[in-house]
Amino acid sequence: MKRRVLVATGGGDCPGLNAVIRGVVKRASQERDWEVVGSYQAFNGVLREPMELIVLNEEKVSGIHVKGGTIIGTTNKGGPFAWPVKEKDGTWGSVDRSDEMLRKLQYQNIEAVINIGGDGSQSISQRLYEKGLNIIGVPKTIDNDLAGTDFTFGFQTAVEIATDAVDKLVTTAESHNRIFILEVMGRDAGWIALHSAIAGGAEVCLIPEIPYSVDSIMERIHERIVFGRGFLIIVIAEGAMPVGGDVVAEELDEVGYAHKHLGGAASRLKKELKDAGCESDVRVTILGHLQRGGIPNAYDRILATQFGVKAMEMVLDEDYGKMVAYKHPNIVGLPIKDVIATYNRIGPDDQLVKTARGIGMNLGD
Ligand code: F6P
Repeated sequence: MKRRVLVATGGGDCPGLNAVIRGVVKRASQERDWEVVGSYQAFNGVLREPMELIVLNEEKVSGIHVKGGTIIGTTNKGGPFAWPVKEKDGTWGSVDRSDEMLRKLQYQNIEAVINIGGDGSQSISQRLYEKGLNIIGVPKTIDNDLAGTDFTFGFQTAVEIATDAVDKLVTTAESHNRIFILEVMGRDAGWIALHSAIAGGAEVCLIPEIPYSVDSIMERIHERIVFGRGFLIIVIAEGAMPVGGDVVAEELDEVGYAHKHLGGAASRLKKELKDAGCESDVRVTILGHLQRGGIPNAYDRILATQFGVKAMEMVLDEDYGKMVAYKHPNIVGLPIKDVIATYNRIGPDDQLVKTARGIGMNLGD
């Protein structure tokens, strides 16, 4: 009987997930005694009855590095420590099924697990590791907010999509002498916003790390738009907020969804600008999930493949409790407990902030 490693993808999907899976399977197939098993929708595949597990061989992963999404599905709800259950009164609660999951993995002869996911998934990895599971984490998110790694895969693709949107908005804004506000993802980090604003040449970029003042933005509008002539592009991160304000978010009523759903920062800013006397036409574009859909770019395919190969090599070395990370020029393993202790957000003296200021970009302060 072959030794078995389980692969799971958790959290929001992200371009490059399939390339990681393929990297794991291709590396494992070079070892005669190992077999890779995929769990459907994160660990749900293990927890459901009957289990939803699929053996992943080279044939199954052939060519998938080019495809977006994940062939084994994902979820950002529930998980082994908070499995949703309906209470007698009809409300939803949760139960800890982690011990049961470990037993099921043992029963399936699963020796090790590779958990591909963001901060939430890696916190689950650490808790499972502390319970004795042989686990390796792989950092995934378009937001690039995971600590320890120079980049997460999926981020560069999201930046490219957002930059393409800025490029397209420039031509229509210029033609109509309009202001466009482009809202991009990123949760509490402004990486996608700042990268795409610099790449696309936006005049204003508002990120969660720097609360904005409407007066400062109005000043820039007055400089750029004179007698109704001129245009302006503002890139705003979904987690951006005015000085003294908060994020725009709604609590989702989806069962097991533990996060706030961010969205609406651009519309709020439009209203703030109008209230401050802005006379130009202001239009809002929300890029949303277009940033996570579709094919990964070449950079993300390569990074994700490197992560997949390294994760399998760490399994072979029994180097557990670690997350794969990119530390230029190397792919390394770092203790999961260290990387989940903090977030990767943009610092006030970050080189990218300096560059943005250096080209005269208004950051809202
Ligand atoms: O973390 C990735 C991300 O796409 C964020 O940028 C965004 O806030 C969030 O996930 C949205 O998640 P979903 O719509 O899948 O709940």
